[in-house]
Amino acid sequence: MNRIVKQSKKVNQQDLEKRVKDMYKKVALQPEVEYHFEMGRKLADRVHYPSKTLDKIPSQAIDSFSGVGYYFDLAQLKKGEVAVDLGSGSGMDAFFAAIEVGETGEVIGIDMTNEQLEKSSNLRDTAGFSQVIFRKSYIEELPIMSNSVDAVISNGVINLSSEKAKVFDEAARILKSGGRLAISDIVTEIKLSENISCDATLWAACIGGAMQIDAYKQLIEDAGLEIVKVKDNPYEFISNSAQGATKQFGIKSVSILAVKK
Ligand SMILES: C[S@@+](CC[C@H](N)C(=O)[O-])C[C@H]1O[C@@H](n2cnc3c(N)ncnc32)[C@H](O)[C@@H]1O
Repeated sequence: MNRIVKQSKKVNQQDLEKRVKDMYKKVALQPEVEYHFEMGRKLADRVHYPSKTLDKIPSQAIDSFSGVGYYFDLAQLKKGEVAVDLGSGSGMDAFFAAIEVGETGEVIGIDMTNEQLEKSSNLRDTAGFSQVIFRKSYIEELPIMSNSVDAVISNGVINLSSEKAKVFDEAARILKSGGRLAISDIVTEIKLSENISCDATLWAACIGGAMQIDAYKQLIEDAGLEIVKVKDNPYEFISNSAQGATKQFGIKSVSILAVKK
């Protein structure tokens, strides 16, 4: 699978997919290395994931957690529901969702990076989360039937796509009527300048691809989803370059709940 994303003219697309895959291969295999962003249990605790659920999730999945916020309070997953996790990484959120939907539910984790899929699938087998499957796919082209799922969840991923409208259209397509999109993602107060958004390394670190919040919300509404709630998350980037851009452009993490009409 090697798909070149087309829409953005501001970043070299051939470079971008490779950089994102390289970055998250490293996140899967070497979570102890220092990145632009915080990771792991400390981050999960700080953005308010409940400890009692985290304690039931394989620690290797938590070590590679590179989300940007908490949104399960918005998602309100119920026993027996079907949830799809866009950009499931090493699997922490997919396993969290699996605990919430229970053994009668189903969680489908979608990711494009082989090493993330291999790690999450191995952890699923070892921990016995039989209600979870991981599938290799792009989040812009979901291998899932229309009107078939109760919730679409995602954490720190959609900012990485240069085809965000397509991602939200796909989420809306697979959701049942009344289904929920509950996500955490990086957005900006002010549109990023091209020296930031053309930098594929900053893009792969969840900064360069961040969209201005009103434009981001508009894409969700344009897909046919009604935004019910938006909240800011206690999330901070680590590196100096990331912190500089954060101050200049109001880069921040938000959690959003939207419902399919
Ligand atoms: C920031 S990590 C977040 C992973 C996970 N949600 C977590 O919280 O740890 C981004 C993940 O999304 C995947 N990803 C990024 N862009 C993608 C795309 N267009 N299609 C599928 N997966 C993608 C990457 O491979 C990576 O595993």
